[in-house]
Amino acid sequence: MDPLDQIDLNKLPRHIAIIMDGNGRWARRRLMNRIHGHREGAKSVRAVVTTCRKLNIPYLTLYAFSKENWRRPAQEINALWDLLLEYIDSQLPEMLEKGIRLNTIGDEEGLPERVIKALDFAKEKTSKNKDMVVNLAINYGGRQEIIAGIKKLVQEVMNNQVNPDDINMELFSGYLFTGRQPDPDLLIRTSGEFRISNFLLWQLAYTEIYVTPVLWPDFREKELIEAIKDYQRRERRFGRTSDQLHTHQAEIPAS
Ligand code: FPP
Repeated sequence: MDPLDQIDLNKLPRHIAIIMDGNGRWARRRLMNRIHGHREGAKSVRAVVTTCRKLNIPYLTLYAFSKENWRRPAQEINALWDLLLEYIDSQLPEMLEKGIRLNTIGDEEGLPERVIKALDFAKEKTSKNKDMVVNLAINYGGRQEIIAGIKKLVQEVMNNQVNPDDINMELFSGYLFTGRQPDPDLLIRTSGEFRISNFLLWQLAYTEIYVTPVLWPDFREKELIEAIKDYQRRERRFGRTSDQLHTHQAEIPAS
């Protein structure tokens, strides 16, 4: 039986977010350099994007490089940029063929010029694609994103472009990097840690969280399907009682 047949296609998450953790541990267990772990991890990125596309999941957000990751040795950081460029280069034809739009969330400022160029090129090339959005979180921090959104909003209030009385949750969401995209339904974190690590702090308000001990380089189609099956067993109540759910459609309350 095709493992994809084990999931209910009518109850799929619309947006999956992933904290890809455990590349270093994967390498260490094999007495390899950490960079080998990242290289294997890039293969998991390919596998997960391909499976989400096959399932018609329209939004996938991957935590590729956090604000905190600058604390790593320069050699490792450079290897991560090389891998990212390699990934974009090798995957661009498939993104174009399969209708996948590449987007980034995070600060461009501070990234090496070659990374900015490659990302801008791929974003522009895929900008018309409509079937799926892959958000790569690069130089990203959730608190920083909220502060940046507030600054933009305050500026527009000062320019009389926004009336403070109109500020509500929906309007504010539009000032974040994720703009009008739906919030994640499912957050996956690999390699066993129960932390959010400054990821999508605003957007994860109602998200179901799935933590697996599997290290990111070992997280492929089969593991993603397990995560989706687990999600499908959950009851999402958004503050309602279980009884109410059986008579009403679950919806996030409007702001
Ligand atoms: C966490 O593992 C992973 C990262 C900090 C980076 C994620 C990068 C990739 C998956 C590779 C390239 C990315 C793309 C988008 C092609 P860790 O190093 O923190 O692992 P550890 O906690 O076991 O040390």
